[in-house]
Amino acid sequence: MSDHELRVSKIRNGTVIDHVPGGQALNVLAILGIDGTGGEQVSIGMNVPSDRLPAKDIVKVEGRELSQNEVDVLSLIAPDATINIVSEYDVVDKRRLDRPEYVKGVLACPNRNCITTDDEPVDSKFEVLDDEVRCVYCDTIIRDNLTEHIGN
Ligand code: CTP
Ligand code: ZN
Repeated sequence: MSDHELRVSKIRNGTVIDHVPGGQALNVLAILGIDGTGGEQVSIGMNVPSDRLPAKDIVKVEGRELSQNEVDVLSLIAPDATINIVSEYDVVDKRRLDRPEYVKGVLACPNRNCITTDDEPVDSKFEVLDDEVRCVYCDTIIRDNLTEHIGN
């Protein structure tokens, strides 16, 4: 790397979500429930050059690992992402994402009458199909605007 290049700093402990499609970094943060008010240390690179993708985003979260539910929803918007676990500056685990059969939590069912959106303590659960996800409780389909339904 030459002096003219600048990259997002390395982190000490936490998670690096790499190879995210360009433009999806803020949606990644939404999936993680991070909006800055929780005090998390986050670095983002958007539309940076990448060999694997036309342009990629990268999200680095200090002091935080991802839950399986978060990883599952992440796989829907960033199927080629890499999740790197960093410990004392070293990458100690690196994994690619599998497309899950179901995603639980994280997405909210758009149906106001769905059992998952009223006061019942029922977590959302969607079956993952080829081009859409379907609420297992009320069959409501989310297809094109998945990221508008993050937040549960
Ligand atoms: N990273 C970081 N902080 C560290 C270590 C790594 O932010 N302490 C970042 C790197 O900048 C990179 C990602 O985590 O974006 C993965 O690191 P590494 O495996 O060292 O890089 P590559 O070999 O290029 O990864 P890949 O093959 O997955 O592209
Ligand atoms: Zn529903």
